[in-house]
Amino acid sequence: MTKKAAGKKEEDGLKQVIATFQLDAEQLPQVIDEAAFGSGDYPHKEKLKSKIYQRDLLALQIELLKALNWVQAQGERVAVIFEGRDTAGKGGAIHRFTQHLSPRDVRIVALQKPTPTEQGQWYFQRYASQLPTRGEITIFDRSWYNRGGVEPVMGFCTPEQTDQFLHEAPQFEAMLVRDGIRLFKLFLTIGQAMQLKRLHARHADPLKQWKLSPIDHQAVNKWEAYSSAYDRMLAATDTVDTPWTIVKANDKHRTRLATIRSVLAGLPYPDKDEKLVGGQDHKIVLTAERFLA
Ligand code: ADP
Ligand code: AMP
Ligand code: MLT
Repeated sequence: MTKKAAGKKEEDGLKQVIATFQLDAEQLPQVIDEAAFGSGDYPHKEKLKSKIYQRDLLALQIELLKALNWVQAQGERVAVIFEGRDTAGKGGAIHRFTQHLSPRDVRIVALQKPTPTEQGQWYFQRYASQLPTRGEITIFDRSWYNRGGVEPVMGFCTPEQTDQFLHEAPQFEAMLVRDGIRLFKLFLTIGQAMQLKRLHARHADPLKQWKLSPIDHQAVNKWEAYSSAYDRMLAATDTVDTPWTIVKANDKHRTRLATIRSVLAGLPYPDKDEKLVGGQDHKIVLTAERFLA
């Protein structure tokens, strides 16, 4: 067998294991475990060294404090959206982002499913009311982009509502930016084997079980549906003024550094450590255009 044919056979084998895998299986199948880190064409072979992670994270968190001081002194308004599949690592990245910032100045918005009252309102209304005021950074753990991902995939909205949303989101965001809000849109992407590994870990670990929602169980069967929905969403809502930043997120540590760097790079605060902030990992940080190509 040629090397290429052997690779293809291995891939088909993995696909089959994935297709029959149950989250409540006692053991994670070895092929999934082994494929996880490299899945989704992850460009690194090894996790980032812990020492480098700790060093850079601390230095970047200090930069975040400088940036926040500037936001407050200037009365700036900053909104950061974290999007991505279940288990992509949004929660962990947001936690490290806000770890050393005062909850008074940085707000995390993680909205529940819409209440009947909210369902009767303009779709963007409950998100609009959470946008930052002067001197504030607001972080969205999921956002209005639910209508481009989980809602169409799970059938929580009609196809027409998604069509309308994809048309209107760039208009909505253009208004925010015109009004002076600095908007960052981060999309964390992971491979399928990595998602299964993380979902399985949540299932097996009593300390992580709270993270598992009924929707997460669906994530396994809906991988392809989410892929199409997200591709369409990213293509429709990536604009010059409000572009997406895609972060390949199989390595949580690299993901956390990359998301912080990406926001810092876009804020013109004084006394920036350009070398540190400029050290972005462009193997894992992509434009939407490159990601979709
Ligand atoms: P998370 O991944 O944020 O921990 P879930 O996996 O439970 O949370 O849900 C994913 C997203 O789907 C959440 O933003 C939630 O608000 C949204 N969602 C859940 N149920 C509905 C629903 N019936 N209609 C609209 N959105 C929903
Ligand atoms: P966690 O919730 O961070 O403890 O990890 C959940 C899953 O992600 C586990 O299956 C880990 O093996 C995996 N994982 C933990 N840390 C990393 C990392 N730095 N890069 C990639 N995967 C990781
Ligand atoms: C996370 O990235 O922290 C997760 O996407 C949240 C989840 O899986 O529910």
